[in-house]
Amino acid sequence: MDDPSPIARSLELYERAKQIVPGGTQLLSRRPLIFAPGVAPIFADRGKGSRIWDVDGSEYLDYGMSVSACILGYADDVVNDAVRAQIDRGVMYSLNHPAELELAELLCRTIPCAEMVRFAKGGGEACAIAVRIARGATGRDKVLFCGYHGWHDWYLAANLDAASLDSHLFPGIEPIGVPRGLAGTAIPFPHGDLAALEQALDLHAPDVACVIMEPMRSTESPPGYLQGVRALTENRGIILVFDEVTTGFRHAPGGVEEFLGVVPDMATFAKSLSNGYAMGAVVGRRAVMEPAARMFISSTNWSDLVGIVAAIATLKEIRRRNIPAMLREYGERLMAGWNTTAKEIGIAARMYGTPQWPLIEFSAQGAGMPESTGAARSDSIVGNGPSLARKLAALYAQEMAHRRILFNTHPVHSAAHNDRDLDQTLTASRESLITVRDALQTGRIEESLKVTLDPPVFRRLVQ
Ligand SMILES: Cc1ncc(COP(=O)(O)O)c(C=O)c1O
Repeated sequence: MDDPSPIARSLELYERAKQIVPGGTQLLSRRPLIFAPGVAPIFADRGKGSRIWDVDGSEYLDYGMSVSACILGYADDVVNDAVRAQIDRGVMYSLNHPAELELAELLCRTIPCAEMVRFAKGGGEACAIAVRIARGATGRDKVLFCGYHGWHDWYLAANLDAASLDSHLFPGIEPIGVPRGLAGTAIPFPHGDLAALEQALDLHAPDVACVIMEPMRSTESPPGYLQGVRALTENRGIILVFDEVTTGFRHAPGGVEEFLGVVPDMATFAKSLSNGYAMGAVVGRRAVMEPAARMFISSTNWSDLVGIVAAIATLKEIRRRNIPAMLREYGERLMAGWNTTAKEIGIAARMYGTPQWPLIEFSAQGAGMPESTGAARSDSIVGNGPSLARKLAALYAQEMAHRRILFNTHPVHSAAHNDRDLDQTLTASRESLITVRDALQTGRIEESLKVTLDPPVFRRLVQ
């Protein structure tokens, strides 16, 4: 009889989930294809630091960190103590609580553009609030966007007229359920091309409420680009919103805007704001935010104190422990070790981008170091098509999962990743890359692959 699968319980739970949860999961980035589909676990039981334990009882070193939310590591003691203390006092009352003000003031001291603050419970929600405020403050309807900003109608409206989200999120999204009346209100622009943005602004400027974009992800924009975006929007009286939901506080305690020195009118935060507890924030200049007082923007759970005290504790810890420096140092050592290993083994792959959040590319040709085109580059292991690069990336992720490490071409480390984790990662990478190289040299890639090569998910414009 065959040995039971090491992820048998995960697979069983996923079958049950598909019966009762449309799509099988609440978050696309938790679909099983994100790491090594069919090999990596699907359901977690618990997490601590850099590690999670799956429902089959196996321990994994995690390079997902809950889609980057757990910047300090899972179940951080300081954040959890703050949350526990609050739970004993109640987490929501008929009245406001001073902690709400404490967080708002902390955000204003921390984030360059922040003079006023509204809360949310997640990133997509924070972006929807920012867009509502921008529309309300300017009296204009159109939004120019670049990248991914959540699931709400204002954003998916981009696909009503054309497949605009193909190059910003992933291909094939049908705007089912989005009112047709929103057609023409969300207009995409490509990242890094100032002339294209200027053209779009010239075409739509009198109707544009805001430009919303991720200022960076794993690689910086072309020199002067963001300064150019700032100038173009400012000259036309258009609100510039930086979506810092996913970059969060990886680069600086004041976010990417502090790191890059380009200050938008508004910014959105969630995820790493509260180290995994539900929380989001929209911050911005007084002139832009103040009109929100007259807009109907209100929700019971926005003052939930679990998220609020978690955010206060997380922001303080990010500064106290100098988390961006820790992430940079670990990332630099990971990149150096990984690239040396790949070179020694003789495989055409590289780890590149910012050390706070590096990327991996496998060459589409399978030989020679890749430059930038034709290589697998994606949030998931699956790349942008059934290319050789995609298969190599999938095989690598599969071999890492066999070695109890959840890793893909967009690994996310946390401040809890330590020397032992680095050693384990580099040792497993060496073994995995040797397997990939040997499969490549002997033409046995297909045979070696146990994972399913599903279509790509979350292909992002800004990496
Ligand atoms: C840039 C960006 N904006 C918004 C969101 C949506 O955030 P949430 O999943 O918390 O709604 C995400 C999530 O990945 C994101 O990366």
